[in-house]
Amino acid sequence: MPVSIKNDVPVQLVLGTQWGDEGKGKIVDILGESADVVARYQGGPNAGHTVKIQDEQYILHLIPSGILRSHTKCVIGNGVVINPQSLMTEIQFLIEKGIDCMDRLFISQNAHLILPYHEKLDKAFETLKGEKSIGTTGRGIGPSYADKVSRIGIRMNDLLDEKLLKEKVDYNVKLKNGFLQHVCHEGGVNGKEILKSLLQFRDQIKERITDTRWMLYKSLQDGKKILLEGAQGTLLDIDLGTYPFVTSSNTTSGGSFPGLGLGFRQLNRVVGVVKAYTTRVGNGPFPTELTGDFGDKIRQVGGEYGATTGRPRRCGWFDAVIGRYAVQVNDLDVLAITKLDVLDALETIQICTGYTYKGKTLETMPTDCDILQKVEPVYESMPGWQQPLNEIKEYGDLPQNTKDYLNRLEELVQKPIGIVSVGPHRSETIFP
Ligand code: IMP
Repeated sequence: MPVSIKNDVPVQLVLGTQWGDEGKGKIVDILGESADVVARYQGGPNAGHTVKIQDEQYILHLIPSGILRSHTKCVIGNGVVINPQSLMTEIQFLIEKGIDCMDRLFISQNAHLILPYHEKLDKAFETLKGEKSIGTTGRGIGPSYADKVSRIGIRMNDLLDEKLLKEKVDYNVKLKNGFLQHVCHEGGVNGKEILKSLLQFRDQIKERITDTRWMLYKSLQDGKKILLEGAQGTLLDIDLGTYPFVTSSNTTSGGSFPGLGLGFRQLNRVVGVVKAYTTRVGNGPFPTELTGDFGDKIRQVGGEYGATTGRPRRCGWFDAVIGRYAVQVNDLDVLAITKLDVLDALETIQICTGYTYKGKTLETMPTDCDILQKVEPVYESMPGWQQPLNEIKEYGDLPQNTKDYLNRLEELVQKPIGIVSVGPHRSETIFP
């Protein structure tokens, strides 16, 4: 049975349950209406959160989608990796659209930077991998997180100490240029230029650098409502996803604790965003992928092209094995179903209810990519509704076949639906 999500809890988290691109931006925008603070906890400008307000489309990469609600404060947490140029471009884009964002943006002093050598290394690693490449966004995400874990990363706070910053840049440039030039046979980067642009960035942004953990703690003590915005999706999680075809952060709910400095008991509700079908961008296994004309049709109707890179997304049927896995690893409370309207014209809709491997039914999702590549999806067919959904406002007014499809999704993943999105606009949202 669907449930209604009320904004009655202090901390609520919205995250993707598949391979990203589930439509989290719109759900954050909807729930952001009653949030005081919206915070990102992982990822970087590899994300592309799309929100449509009237005729205007906003694609946000680093700044939380909550910025589009004029009353919210927005936090880029310590778990996020920041490309200075991307951030300034995004701020400029918002200012040009008339959105006052500078005073409402708070950036963690401990967030790591993505520098030109990270992007170069990301692309060089992909080239070296050849056929085994991951299909990254090329934004330098992996190398920046690698530096963080290797304890040689440069953080926002380092911008405030010029001498230390120079030492850190010099050390990294020496290391990275050695690799780029001698292993990859490519040109290196110029440390002086990097330092110069970092100091310019510092002058533009220094007022926004703060202890965001403390700010969130105090906000909670003051009775404020906080919405956490996940990026990418569950199956792109560095630990729990389809490794190595994953991103380099913890995209799952657990990532929000170290990514913001919250304690796990502070999280009151986890909303899992589930696209009514499945997509994936980049390489790696995808059991329910539709490769022929049908996949092309879904891609076309759903506008399934990467919001960050423009790459065509691979499309496939809804996969309940993934849904159940996402429920388990994120401890989801409720589902937000998105892009249901993309299925409007279909006569029959397939749902993957389970996998078999070597003739045996699997109990859960294998995270070994070699096995996942070879599983056979078990499908169940349901009749489509073959009518537009986007003008329907009440759950009860949905066609019976649509309700049957949604009920079946709930049954298969064992969690209730709390939001149904039937179009990109705010008004095209149904709360059961
Ligand atoms: P990276 O995050 O750029 O290192 O890319 C690693 C993998 O995650 C690639 O398959 C990307 O296509 C995928 N990925 C990264 N960010 C997103 C996203 O926001 N949506 C969907 N896929 C993403």
